[in-house]
Amino acid sequence: MNKLSIVGAGLVGEAAALIIAREELCRELMLIDVQGELAQGKALDVWQAAVESGSDTRVYGGSNAEMLQDSDLVVITAGVPRKPGQSRQDVLSINLPILDTIMRDINRHAPEATVLVVSNPVDVLTYRAWSLSGQGRDRVFGQAGVLDTARMKCFIAEETGFSARDITALVLGGHGDSMVPLMRYCAVGSVPLSHFLSSQQIERIVERTRQGGGEILGLKKVGSACDAPGVAIAQMVDAIANGRNRILPAVAILEGEYGRTGIAMGVPCVLADKGIVRVIELPLDAQEQVMFDHSADQVVRDIAEMNAL
Ligand code: 2OP
Repeated sequence: MNKLSIVGAGLVGEAAALIIAREELCRELMLIDVQGELAQGKALDVWQAAVESGSDTRVYGGSNAEMLQDSDLVVITAGVPRKPGQSRQDVLSINLPILDTIMRDINRHAPEATVLVVSNPVDVLTYRAWSLSGQGRDRVFGQAGVLDTARMKCFIAEETGFSARDITALVLGGHGDSMVPLMRYCAVGSVPLSHFLSSQQIERIVERTRQGGGEILGLKKVGSACDAPGVAIAQMVDAIANGRNRILPAVAILEGEYGRTGIAMGVPCVLADKGIVRVIELPLDAQEQVMFDHSADQVVRDIAEMNAL
């Protein structure tokens, strides 16, 4: 990839930038923030770390929207994180105008760019970004499920005692308490999880995954998770930059899949060069469909709340 921009030089943007630069996933990396000097300082720090890792990715920081020019991919991490006790939806009124401004800048300076939304509430803001972009759903989508599945893999590793390397997991739905972990598709070394764990143990994993972001926020108090979100972003960037055709969960605009249209939800997608090349529709059993519908209904309400602002 030639040029990647990250808008939002907070902890998540910086964590993502460090991995992307060290792994040399693009030639030029822009770290853009309303606090231009902060972004410049972080960009220098990340660049120097990348060079130390043998990477030639050149990292620049600043506040000027013109830095977006000719970006192949723009990652949006700008906005305020929630505070302990807040839901992701509680930061909507602050983060919505921020996203709107960024989308205006992208439309002006990098209208062809693929856009990856990370700011919360990610389902709603992905929907907004897609609506404002005028692009197809293949080019505007969000990150949530890669992070949620990483969390679930940790908890499965802890509960089973097996290596996290052998664990596969899958999460659908909104990024929040209504997310839908698909335990039927979770396995350790290709053996279904139910072979190793009781339904109570699995339920514990599901609940902890749903509350995964809140658990970290409650402990850190002054900020939410940043390292695992940074890795999750870098994984999606890697799939796009290297045209890998990876199956990863993404917040995608649904066009009839899972019985829903005109809503952004976490679903398994195939990620390659420009973005989403396919949304994968899995057959859900009755109980999974109920959970999915519950999650989708919540996102529909959240989008209606956004539209009323
Ligand atoms: C999380 O789940 C901040 O939404 C992010 O940690």
